Order: sequence, then structure tokens, then C-alpha cells
Amino acid sequence: MNVYDSTRMIDSLSENDYEETKIIEQADLLILNTCHIREKATEKVFSEIGRMKELRNKRRENGQDMIIAVAGCVAQAQGEEIMARAPVVSLVFGPQSYHKLPELVKRAANERVIDTDFPIEDKFNFLPKAKNSNIIARGLTAFLTVQEGCDKFCSFCVVPYTRGSEVSRPLEQVILEAKSLVAGGVMEITLLGQNVNAYHGENSKGKAANLAELLYALAKIDGLERLRYTTSHPNDMDQTLINAHKDLSTLMPYLHLPVQSGSNKILKAMNRSHTAEKYLEIIERLREARPDIALSGDFIVGFPNESDKDFEDTLKIIRQSKYSSAYSFKYSPRPGTPGALMDNQIPEKIRSERLTILQKLLNEQQTKFNLATIGRTVPVLFDKKGRSAGQIGGRSPYLQPIHLSGSEDLIGTIENVKIISGDKNSLTGELVKVE
Ligand code: 5AD
Ligand code: SF4
Repeated sequence: MNVYDSTRMIDSLSENDYEETKIIEQADLLILNTCHIREKATEKVFSEIGRMKELRNKRRENGQDMIIAVAGCVAQAQGEEIMARAPVVSLVFGPQSYHKLPELVKRAANERVIDTDFPIEDKFNFLPKAKNSNIIARGLTAFLTVQEGCDKFCSFCVVPYTRGSEVSRPLEQVILEAKSLVAGGVMEITLLGQNVNAYHGENSKGKAANLAELLYALAKIDGLERLRYTTSHPNDMDQTLINAHKDLSTLMPYLHLPVQSGSNKILKAMNRSHTAEKYLEIIERLREARPDIALSGDFIVGFPNESDKDFEDTLKIIRQSKYSSAYSFKYSPRPGTPGALMDNQIPEKIRSERLTILQKLLNEQQTKFNLATIGRTVPVLFDKKGRSAGQIGGRSPYLQPIHLSGSEDLIGTIENVKIISGDKNSLTGELVKVE
């Protein structure tokens, strides 16, 4: 979502005649977009600010200047601290203030500004449309935020505090944005939300539309070849959404559905409001609807009170679910969350050991999933040049990276590829000639 937000910031700043530069030394304005989800990401903020200060000083030596801004969830959670600790920062603003950026940046040229209030108005009603030239420059796949915030309050997670409560964008607004992306050449859209399948945007009849309704509507857009969505919560995985995976060929057979832990005791302490059994039952229904669906997940090891047996239960649910890929993390106590105050925090050494064991299993599953594609023919959306000369790169429906020798003219097309070989990280193959 930070990637999407950064693009919207750039769109918003075109009002001030700013444009994106890839050459950091040339920037008149440098915005650090931050993540607060785990301590490691947050820690990086202050060292990055140090680096930004050096860049600004160099520009000052040459008679130029640079406005330094910090955006995102660390700005939201620790705005005052950033202002106090880092005098070089002129502007701090949270995720709900992006639409005010033109005005904030003007003010920051003369004074230090902080804006981390949750405004009453919805930023999406104010953010300008992306310029067509920007959409084209951003490539053939795009993100589109449809829902933001979270009301679930998992006891380890800062999102409900930094992003605020759940808000869904109206259905028509999403369709219009998707159409303008497609008009700019986008072929694949990934719908985003902290809780994307809790989407309940207003439709044209003034009723709440769920994610399935939105997907069916988006699937009608001519030229939109592929749809994905992330991240989902098991409790919002309703049957209409599962059916969409059966009905819509545009909806790719891939789902990121985090379970976090396989132990019911830990799931309860995490305030996940579902059991391991319920998760497995959802997976079963999904595979009934779309047998080839690739499953991805998120896992946290070392949540307070996690015993060896609880950890074993997590390994067990991984074996039962069979993932094509997954993200896994050591539990990181976050300020202001209930988890951080729980007794029996797990020592770092055990968290590390458990993560290594869990990642070994997940890596094996990922390799197995990729190798099972060998010999199959899959449609690949080619969206970029490959790693070496003469190569092009793309993605399978299952989100596997694919590289092969081929003409750059194929970028922007979907071609059938017979998979010849692969490993944990990517696959290679040959184009299937149509007779
Ligand atoms: N510690 C470790 N991982 C976390 N996540 C969220 N909060 C924490 C935390 N405090 C992980 C979860 C979530 C993903 C986005 O980040 O697995 O699904
Ligand atoms: Fe965080 Fe996701 Fe839980 Fe919401 S549902 S609190 S975003 S982990």
C-alpha cells in the first residue's frame, strides 16, 4: 500500500509542478514513506533521515535546497518524536493527509509542519487523477486501494491505530480509477486494503457492495486482463467471494490469506476470532471452487506464551494448507498494542530458532509448488525486460516470476509458456507457438 500511496502523493504534487525523479540528488523535495508494522522497519527511519540530511547538505553546498518530509505510519505514530529528534525534517504527515500535500509542502518551505490528524473528509474525494503519462511510466501492473484501515484489532498489530478504522471507497469511484488505469495501458490490477475482503463500498443504489460485487463489476472492464486482491482476513472470506474465484477467469488463482498461527490458544490470544479448523475449512471450500488456487500466507512466530506445542501446531497447519509462498516474521512487540504488555514474552533466541525452522518448511513448499509447474503450459503476462540481455520477464497466474528468451515486443502481451525448469524463486520456459 505504501507503493500505491507514493504514486498518489506524486499525482497530488503535480499541482505544485513537482514531478518524480529517479536521481535522488536532484530532488527539491524528498519524502520518506514509512512503515510501522514491525520494529525493524521503524528503526530504519532515523538512519534514513541521517542519509537524507547528507543529501540536503550537499545541495546546500551547491546553493540549492531540499525539503525533507516523512510520511506514512511512522509519521502517524511518532510524528512529534521525529520533529523533536530530527530538526532536518520540515514536514511530517500521516496516511490520511496525502490530499493536503500541495498546501503542506508550500507551508513547509517556510516553517516546520506536522499533520497527523485523522481528517473528517475522505482523501480519495480530493486526490487528483493520475496523469496518463504517469500511468504509462508506471507499467502494466498497478495497485488500487479500495479499502483502508482495520477494525479487527489483532493484539500484535499497530494498523488499527496508524491507519484508523475501516473505510471503503465507493464502488463507482474504484471503477473509474480502474478504467483510467486501463486507458493508460494497465493490464493487471491488484486491489489493496489492510482488510480488502471486508470491503463494503457504496454502490450506485446506495447499498453496500462486497468485494465479490466489486470484482464482478471490474471484470467487465475491456482490456483489464487480470485481477488480484490483497490482504484478506479469514473471517471475511464469504461464499460470494469464494464463488468469484470459480466464475471469473480474470480473477487470478492466487490468494494471500494470512493465518498467523496454527494454535487455537495463540489465535485466541492474538484476537484473531477464528480457529485453525475454520481456516482449513475455508481453504477446502476455496480449492473446491478453484482447484489450482495458489495459497500464500503470513506467519508470526514467538507470540507471547507460544509453547513448543503451539509452534508445532503452526508447522502442522502449514503442512495441511500447502503454500505456494508465504511471509513469516518474528513477533515484534509494538508500542500501544495489547501483545506488548502480555506476560511470557518469548526470548529472541527461541523466536529466531522457530523462524528458521518455519522458513525451511515454507521454502520447501514454495520449491515444490514451482517444480510442480514444470511441464505445464501457463499464460504469462510479460511486463518487463528480463535479468539478462535478450530476456523478458513476467508472471504466471500464480504470481510466479517467469524469465525467458524472447523479443521485447512481447512486453504488454499475455502468451502461453511451457515451463521447462525452475527453482524456489522463479521459472523459465518456452513460448508455445499457436498453429
Ligand atoms: N510482529 C511481527 N509481525 C507482525 N505483523 C503484523 N504485526 C506484527 C508484529 N507486531 C505481520 C503479520 C501481518 C503482516 C502484514 O505483518 O503477519 O499479516
Ligand atoms: Fe492488523 Fe490485519 Fe489484524 Fe487488522 S486484521 S489488526 S491489519 S493483522
